[in-house]
Amino acid sequence: MNRRLFIRVVGQSSIAAATLGVGACAATSGFPAAAIEAWQGPSETEPRRRALAYAITAPNPHNLQPWLVSLSETDVITVLTDPERVLPETDPFGRQILIGHGTFLELLVMSLAEQGFSSNVALWPQGELPPKLGNWRNAAGSQRPVARITLAPGGQKDPLFAHILKRHTPKTDYDPARPVSAGSIEKLLSGLRAGSVAAAGTVDAGRLPALRDLCEQSAVVEISTPRTMLESIKLLRVGPDEILASRDGIAVNSTFVRAMSAIGLLDRSTAPAVGSAGYKNALARFEGHSRTAMGFVWLSTLGNSRSQQIEAGRAYVRMQRRATEIGLGVHPMSQALQEFTEMKPFYEQAHQVLLGKPAPRTSADETLQMFCRLGYTPEAVPATPRRAIEKFMVSI
Ligand SMILES: Cc1cc2nc3c(=O)[nH]c(=O)nc-3n(C[C@H](O)[C@H](O)[C@H](O)COP(=O)(O)O)c2cc1C
Repeated sequence: MNRRLFIRVVGQSSIAAATLGVGACAATSGFPAAAIEAWQGPSETEPRRRALAYAITAPNPHNLQPWLVSLSETDVITVLTDPERVLPETDPFGRQILIGHGTFLELLVMSLAEQGFSSNVALWPQGELPPKLGNWRNAAGSQRPVARITLAPGGQKDPLFAHILKRHTPKTDYDPARPVSAGSIEKLLSGLRAGSVAAAGTVDAGRLPALRDLCEQSAVVEISTPRTMLESIKLLRVGPDEILASRDGIAVNSTFVRAMSAIGLLDRSTAPAVGSAGYKNALARFEGHSRTAMGFVWLSTLGNSRSQQIEAGRAYVRMQRRATEIGLGVHPMSQALQEFTEMKPFYEQAHQVLLGKPAPRTSADETLQMFCRLGYTPEAVPATPRRAIEKFMVSI
């Protein structure tokens, strides 16, 4: 496509959004080898570092990889959150970021068990993180570990360990000709431990249209709200150089998008106007994802404490690895669960439709933590980048 034609197609002010539409969350392959080396498995031999090398492959919002780890005490791993790696617009209370710490802890514990260590996980040894993200940065927040894990000989090996490095999130349309069976949902949920996280799902043809609409309409809110749309655009990493430099975020490596970037047409400074070609491209991605959802699963907790958010993350990654084992795609569509003002009607609707209750008013009320679409992808799902493990190390 030549430059003039491209401009006619997407419109000059919308290139970055078009990028999100054509490739950002699509199955972009061909990432530089170093950016995806984590998926080859660790070369580390020290047990805690080896476990860490597995844990950084955990699913997490926008692939921010918000984890920090201190190994300064013998036989202890202290996990902290990186207060700079948060999503203030779409995740203003850090709930999703902490789910992404639960996924990390689950992989860490499982990888230690695989090496013959049991883990005593003490959450919030110095108190929970403050409710407001802004306070995560100051002394009251950023120094408070999420968890202190004490190792001892033992640990029970978990069969789901085998799927850690095969687990990937399918961010593409599913095959609409391949239904998901009710039995598959049972298998998925059977991977969960009995505990405080409730899980449910449906493939009922009578329920799917309303849930697909919920995904689509809530996505419209995210992409029509300039500050929330821009939050995703700012996380684009385009082409091998940017992907290698950051090894996080929304990595895009398609020839088309790289060409647009090279000729200066990738504007990442503004959100696209509603109705512009770039906006329509982003919308088309969400429409495709929503309309090809062949089933849904969701996780909720009886309250919304920081520990319950962590537990939800632990349950989620178990479920996604179980999905990997049975060859089923599990893809979070978190828009309806986002807690910014404009999303409130869909946050309410999601709780009514999925839990039969109003949205939580306090942290003691039942809260949806994950809402995911199910289906089969026509092609294998590629790995996403991860940073080198040294980048996660701090000394405290
Ligand atoms: C709490 C949470 C929320 C997420 N929400 C979304 C989402 O709304 N849309 C999406 O495409 N992926 C979502 N993801 C998946 C991440 O984008 C994905 O884990 C990350 O990009 C890394 O890719 P990987 O899981 O294939 O390693 C979510 C993951 C977590 C843990």
